[in-house]
Amino acid sequence: MRSWVDRLFGWVMLVQVIGAIVTSLVLSPLSYSGAESEIHPHVETAVLLGLLIGTPVWVAVRKYPGRRATRYVVACCQMLMGCLLIHVTGGRIETHFHVFVSLAFLAFYLDWSILVPASIIVVVDHYVRGLYFPISVYGVASGAEWRFLEHTGWVLFEDLVLVFACVKGNSLIAELADRQALLETTNERIETEVAMRTRELEVSRRETLLRLARAAELRDTVTGQHIVRVSLLSKLLAEKLGFDEADQDRILLASALHDVGKIGMHDDILLKTGTLTEAERSTMQSHALVGYRLLTQEVHPAFARDAADVSQGCELLETAALIALNHHERWDGAGYPNGLSGEDIPIEARIVAVADVYEALRSDRPYKKRFSMSESQQIMKMGRGTQFDPIVLDTLLDHIEEAEGILFFHRDEQRYFAEAA
Ligand SMILES: [Fe+2]
Repeated sequence: MRSWVDRLFGWVMLVQVIGAIVTSLVLSPLSYSGAESEIHPHVETAVLLGLLIGTPVWVAVRKYPGRRATRYVVACCQMLMGCLLIHVTGGRIETHFHVFVSLAFLAFYLDWSILVPASIIVVVDHYVRGLYFPISVYGVASGAEWRFLEHTGWVLFEDLVLVFACVKGNSLIAELADRQALLETTNERIETEVAMRTRELEVSRRETLLRLARAAELRDTVTGQHIVRVSLLSKLLAEKLGFDEADQDRILLASALHDVGKIGMHDDILLKTGTLTEAERSTMQSHALVGYRLLTQEVHPAFARDAADVSQGCELLETAALIALNHHERWDGAGYPNGLSGEDIPIEARIVAVADVYEALRSDRPYKKRFSMSESQQIMKMGRGTQFDPIVLDTLLDHIEEAEGILFFHRDEQRYFAEAA
C-alpha cells in the first residue's frame, strides 16, 4: 500500500511543480522597469525550486518505492513545496491550507513519524521567513515575528488528530492481518484434512472392491492371479487406445470385478468339470446379470445413515457394473446376456472381453493346458470382427510383447491367493 502512496505523491508533486510555475506566471506577470521588461523573479524561483524539490521525490518513488526513507523524502519535499507555493502567491492565507492538506495526504502512509520532520520544516520556515521576509509568508511587510506560533498551534493540532488516525489505522490493519493469517491457517488445515480423508476413502473403496473381486474368484476353479492379469491387460489396452490416466485406473479396478456375478452361481455348476448341459450353461451365463445387479442394486436403507446415502453411486462402480454385464457380449451380436453388437457394447467391456479371453488362452486350467503365444494369437484373430472389436484386438496384437510381459511377471508361481483359500 505504501508503494501506491509513493506513486501517488510522485504524480501530486508533478502537478504541484506545474501549478507553482503557472501560479507564478499568472500572479506575478512581467515586471517593468522603464521601457524594459523582464521575467519576474517568482517565475524563475518557481521553476528552479520546483525542480529542486520535485526531483528527489521522483527519484525516490521510482527507485525505492515502499521504503521508509522514501516516505521521509516525500514528507519533507511535500512541505517544502507548500512553503514555495505560499511564497509564489505572496503569502496568501488561502495557500496556507496547502500545508494542512499535505499533512492529511501524508497520513495515507499510516506512519505518524514522518509528520515530525514535515511539521518542523513548516514551523522553521514560518519562523525564519516571519523574521526576515514576512511578506513572502504572511503577505505583510512587518510585525509578523510571532505569527508562526499561531500557525504552529494549528499544525500541532492537526498532527494530534493524524497521529491518532495512524495509530488506530495500523491497529485495525494488524487485527485484519491476524484474522487473515488465522483464516489461511484454518483453510490449510481443513484442506490437508480433506485430502487425507479423501485418500483414506479412496484406499478403502479400492480395497473393498478388490476384496469383493477376490471373494468371487475364490468360488471359481480359476485361481492364482487371474484377476490381476486381466486387470493389467485391460489397463494396457486402455492406455494404448488413448484413455487418460484416470480412465486407465478406473478400467484397471473395474475390470477386476468382471466375474463378480459368479458369487451367485451354485457350486455344482460352477465347479463342474464335465460338459455343462444347456440349462446349466444358461444358468452359468447369468453370472453377467447377477454381477450387474450386485453392483447396481441400491444399498438397503437399513445400512444408510440418511436418505442421500442410498442413491449415491460412483463412476467406478458404474463402470464395473457395465463390464460385469457386457464382457461376454460379442462384436457380431451373438453374445450374452443382451445380444448387443458393435459399438453398442461399452468400450470398457470390449476391452475386458479381449483381455479375459487372451488371458484364459495363455493360462493353465484344471481342465486344459495353456496355448502357446502363437496359437493364442491365431485363435484370437479368428474372432476378429465376430467375437472381438477389431480395433481392440489389433491393439492387443500390436502390443503383444508388453501383454506377454504382464502375463509372465504375474504368472501363477506364487499362488498366494489359492493357498490362502
Ligand atoms: Fe465372465
